[in-house]
Amino acid sequence: MKRAAATPMAEFAATFARAAAGAPFDPTAAALATVDADARPSCRMVLVKRFDEAGFRFFTNYESRKGAELAGHPHAALTWYWPWLDVQVRAEGAVERLAAAESDDYFAERPRGHQLGAWASLQSRPLPSRFALLRRVVAVEARFLGGRVERPPYWGGYLLVPERVEFWRARASRLHERNLWTRTDGGWRRERLYP
Ligand SMILES: Cc1cc2nc3c(=O)[nH]c(=O)nc-3n(C[C@H](O)[C@H](O)[C@H](O)COP(=O)(O)O)c2cc1C
Repeated sequence: MKRAAATPMAEFAATFARAAAGAPFDPTAAALATVDADARPSCRMVLVKRFDEAGFRFFTNYESRKGAELAGHPHAALTWYWPWLDVQVRAEGAVERLAAAESDDYFAERPRGHQLGAWASLQSRPLPSRFALLRRVVAVEARFLGGRVERPPYWGGYLLVPERVEFWRARASRLHERNLWTRTDGGWRRERLYP
């Protein structure tokens, strides 16, 4: 019999590996929910590019709407759904900025067009026209012509440190399986939930 994972991150790694094998869509995509100063939620998709025992990492513009919301209230929720497995994963917890060196490291891996786009985009702010954006791209291309594109100071990663992680797996007759992991003092508790 297969041994149960010892931590939710180990269970996530095994589940993600199944999702990534022959995935028809990017399996790193997840919905990220944050709240504003009035506790009103907002939700958008992000790519969770890295994960390990410490938590889940995603990258964005720190001056975006999500960045402002996370600065004011550093807690968030992530939800993945992989239709080809009929599996959902939910993670909730505190969010912190990654060290600059780790954001530099990830930024350096990105295609050059993405790097230039990070400089050109004032993410979440009003854009007067498509032309205005393209003009900014041309200006950034000229600035970095022939050279390495450094990471913009306002762009980088976050780490969501999970407090709760739930795995939902579809089963017949809507009798789905739900396994909830909750962080305890120095460990994790795992329990089943009614579907
Ligand atoms: C599949 C998918 C993946 C996305 N991944 C990211 C991402 O990793 N980082 C990011 O900043 N925006 C990503 N976006 C765009 C966001 O959903 C969102 O439009 C943007 O970050 C601005 O959100 P905000 O105004 O709430 O800050 C993605 C969109 C989609 C549809």
